[in-house]
Amino acid sequence: MECLTAQRSDTRLQAPIYDPSMSYQDNFDRGPFGEFADGVRIEQAGKPQHSFLGHPVHAPFGVPAGPLLNGKFVKAALDKGFDIPVYKTVRTRRVACHEWPNVLAVDVEGDLTLDKTKLVAKDDYAEPLSITNSFGVPSFDPDFWQPDMAVAVAHAGPGQVVVGSYQGTKSERGGATDYIADFILGARLMLETGVKIIEVNLSCPNEGTSALLCFDVERSREVVEAIKTVLGEIPLLIKVAYFPDDAAVERLLRAVGGAVSGICAINTITAEIVDENGRQALPGEGRLRSGVCGRSIKWAGLEMTRRLSRVREVVGAEFSIIGVGGVSDAADYEEYRQAGADAVMAATGMMWNPQLAQQIKREAHEL
Ligand SMILES: Cc1cc2nc3c(=O)[nH]c(=O)nc-3n(C[C@H](O)[C@H](O)[C@H](O)COP(=O)(O)O)c2cc1C
Repeated sequence: MECLTAQRSDTRLQAPIYDPSMSYQDNFDRGPFGEFADGVRIEQAGKPQHSFLGHPVHAPFGVPAGPLLNGKFVKAALDKGFDIPVYKTVRTRRVACHEWPNVLAVDVEGDLTLDKTKLVAKDDYAEPLSITNSFGVPSFDPDFWQPDMAVAVAHAGPGQVVVGSYQGTKSERGGATDYIADFILGARLMLETGVKIIEVNLSCPNEGTSALLCFDVERSREVVEAIKTVLGEIPLLIKVAYFPDDAAVERLLRAVGGAVSGICAINTITAEIVDENGRQALPGEGRLRSGVCGRSIKWAGLEMTRRLSRVREVVGAEFSIIGVGGVSDAADYEEYRQAGADAVMAATGMMWNPQLAQQIKREAHEL
């Protein structure tokens, strides 16, 4: 790959596609907003020159699970040239969203390194932008999301492919057997939508603990093996968190690296989020610590991309790497590609810049 780096583009923030001043439900019903609401489809010229898990794509660039709340959002992302959009994580049954607010800007000086444990929320969404998002991975019943996802999948044009994300839900009586059974049921429900690539979120709390599932290698292996029994030829991606060292990644890859088609990393990095008086900023139990994403976590996404690339070589696996975290312009995209990402995705950067895919296609040297 060429070692040229695109010029940093003008990254002034635009009207967001998700309005943080409104509830999740209002965004879900009335969104997307900003340029995603204009209904204009950008025509893409020429034949797709890239490939993502066997699907031709114009650019190996998309939106990770989260900001595309439903089919309307996914369709708008496709129209604006995000060639690999992920439909927000769903579950096998309805789960309510956390109380509003669900998105707040946060003040981070420089990188959000792991020693910065407390951040102050603020009102202004300004560059360099980092936010916290706190939804609790809500879901509607499959009766809603299955047909909605099917319509979004069918909206992909040539050189585009939609990914569906889901996760397991702990049962009320607890227990690993029920938890794994829910992942299997979820995989079956996803398959019925006709989605061509499925992502399972392993950066969610593990059954019986508050630690993340991806840090429990044995449970992750069980989950992946169980899902694989129903997926057939459909590629499986796993979404994982930031791992601070190669040894931990190697343990995970030795367990699941041969069974998955791709690894999407990273999810958010958590910190305590307080208001200017030092009080918990997000209302309700269990919400003092919350996930942070955007520019300040780019270092971690890049580090994890390099780590996955290095360790993939060591264990001799062949999965694709989807680099996520803090991407907000073409130079970021290229940095991820040079770090070893087979595809790159932007959540926060896309939310405040709906033209990001078009900009990257204009400015990145390989596109
Ligand atoms: C509004 C919002 C909602 C999110 N919801 C999910 C989700 O449902 N499932 C998931 O795996 N990740 C979710 N994420 C995490 C993103 O997929 C991504 O890993 C993270 O935001 C880092 O990327 P970024 O720096 O480009 O925002 C969400 C992120 C945002 C901003």
